[in-house]
Amino acid sequence: MEEMSLLVVEEVSKSFGGNRALDGVSFTLGEGEILGIVGPNGSGKTTLLNILSGIVRQDSGTVLFMGRPIDGLRPHLRAKMGIGRTFQITRIFSNLTVLENVMIPLHYGGPGSDRDRAEEILSMVGLIEMKDRRAGGLSLAQRKRLELARALALQPKVLLLDEVFAGLNPVSIREILDLLKTLHSETGVAIILVEHVLKALFQITRRVIVLSEGRIIYEGPPEGMAESREVVKAYLGERYEGP
Ligand SMILES: Nc1ncnc2c1ncn2[C@@H]1O[C@H](COP(=O)(O)OP(=O)(O)OP(=O)(O)O)[C@@H](O)[C@H]1O
Ligand SMILES: [Mg+2]
Repeated sequence: MEEMSLLVVEEVSKSFGGNRALDGVSFTLGEGEILGIVGPNGSGKTTLLNILSGIVRQDSGTVLFMGRPIDGLRPHLRAKMGIGRTFQITRIFSNLTVLENVMIPLHYGGPGSDRDRAEEILSMVGLIEMKDRRAGGLSLAQRKRLELARALALQPKVLLLDEVFAGLNPVSIREILDLLKTLHSETGVAIILVEHVLKALFQITRRVIVLSEGRIIYEGPPEGMAESREVVKAYLGERYEGP
């Protein structure tokens, strides 16, 4: 029997007014797989994550999660089912403490010892020392860790990460990269990374999708990207020297 895909995206399209953000996008994600999604600004990457997490509803096409269509489901139900995400612009609550930020999604996830679990997650992402600080006082790298912690609270089967490395210095990129690798090997969580920092991305994934104007123009290993004329033209540019 063929192994069931965790996520199946079938012919998904979405327009905003006359602007086609996604145009017949199809792909699958296996259990525990790490997939990179790249492409120029405005190519539909965030829109795709918004559709997967239920923030935006597609015009046509279907998304299956663990074999079930999830198209009508609200974001919080998808989160409970195991679809966790972080945002390109972090969405933590600045006036709450670091610990409280992680306890909120836990609370919505059902009963249990929220505080112990939140502290456990903060230890995982390296923020336990900061737990009583106001989240608004965190550095960008720490805010990104806190967003990861919030996404991890509901024990996701897949993590959707929108530009986790953007704006970080090389040391912080390295640290978040190591954190993601550890999370992946310890929990088996599948990850979709939307990313512009290719050097970091290629250290964690063997498979990438390139979007251009809402369409998939390449799918395969990072090494193959530069061999596609269309990818070079639409995204990499002629000066690209390979992963
Ligand atoms: N809520 C919205 N309302 C109107 N247009 C939108 C909305 N969200 C996205 N778009 C448009 O859809 C297209 C795809 O945007 P999207 O944010 O998905 O791109 P992206 O690949 O994430 O870009 P970036 O790399 O800059 O983050 C763009 O033309 C954008 O202006
Ligand atoms: Mg985006």
